[in-house]
Amino acid sequence: MNDTPEGFEEYLARTRERVNRALAEVLDDYLDGVDDWLAAPIRYACEGGGKRFRPIVFLASYEMSGRPPHKRAERLASALEIVHSYSLVHDDLPCMDDDDWRRGRATCHRAFGSERATLAAAAMVPLASWVIAGEASALGFESGEVAELVQELSEAAGPSGMVGGQLLDLVSEGRRVTGEELGVIHRRKTGALIRESARLGGRVGRVEPHHLEALTVYGGKVGFAFQIADDILDEAAGPDAAARDPRSDSELEKATYPGVYGTEGARAMARRLADEAIAALREAGIHSANLEGLAVHVIERES
Ligand code: IPE
Ligand code: IPE
Ligand code: MG
Ligand code: MG
Ligand code: MG
Repeated sequence: MNDTPEGFEEYLARTRERVNRALAEVLDDYLDGVDDWLAAPIRYACEGGGKRFRPIVFLASYEMSGRPPHKRAERLASALEIVHSYSLVHDDLPCMDDDDWRRGRATCHRAFGSERATLAAAAMVPLASWVIAGEASALGFESGEVAELVQELSEAAGPSGMVGGQLLDLVSEGRRVTGEELGVIHRRKTGALIRESARLGGRVGRVEPHHLEALTVYGGKVGFAFQIADDILDEAAGPDAAARDPRSDSELEKATYPGVYGTEGARAMARRLADEAIAALREAGIHSANLEGLAVHVIERES
């Protein structure tokens, strides 16, 4: 059983700050001249108190091979937060999970109305591609490589990844779902983008192919564990918890890991995934306290 390394909380807070700064800069640059009708909900969706987990996974993967921090890499990492934030705006819409509360404040559609929130979120997908292309070019990547990075992200976020998982999640509401089906939902709706965050970090850091392979396995397992932990936190908060929207998974009749395997069973699975993620790195000769800390953090986090 692995524990978070010493100093990990400070690392997390420091890296979150780096991401917040880069994201704010990117939004200023790329939204320059964009009508406030769209720019305001885009900013609102990205800001708030997000944990910035996906860009942090990117940066830990990028810096894994000893690369020093790089402003352009931080800006590129923020594209992952833009995609994630868009997914939350759509996830909260009345036609989806119908939530009023997100990151400690009103959801985007509650603050701006469904029309602006829906269109702003749609605009965030090409915005993220634009950021990746712009920042990767500035980092010296050739146009073919830039295209590959954008293509990878599009695949992870699209029908065979996040959006496909969200569809399965919706159509499974109120149905009895097997553990296997639920695994597919979780790996797609949440796992795919976190896996991609590790891969993109590795690719932008130009790591060796066998290290990229290990980061891919690591990201997939950590991403899967992340959603299992999200289900456990939802269940622990209860339907009336002030910190979450009243619409809990149980109210929405969502299939969840604690629902299928029991809370202890779900915890054990998340812990096993985190341990396997760390083992995949070590087997490839990767010894990164930050990546290992992130794997453990996912299952121990309280929010
Ligand atoms: C919540 O994601 C939705 C899931 C994919 C589980 P996070 O728990 O990363 O939310 P923020 O970004 O910190 O608000
Ligand atoms: C959200 O899963 C997954 C994506 C947004 C892709 P949830 O619906 O479980 O996330 P929360 O609990 O609302 O944050
Ligand atoms: Mg949902
Ligand atoms: Mg939701
Ligand atoms: Mg949830």
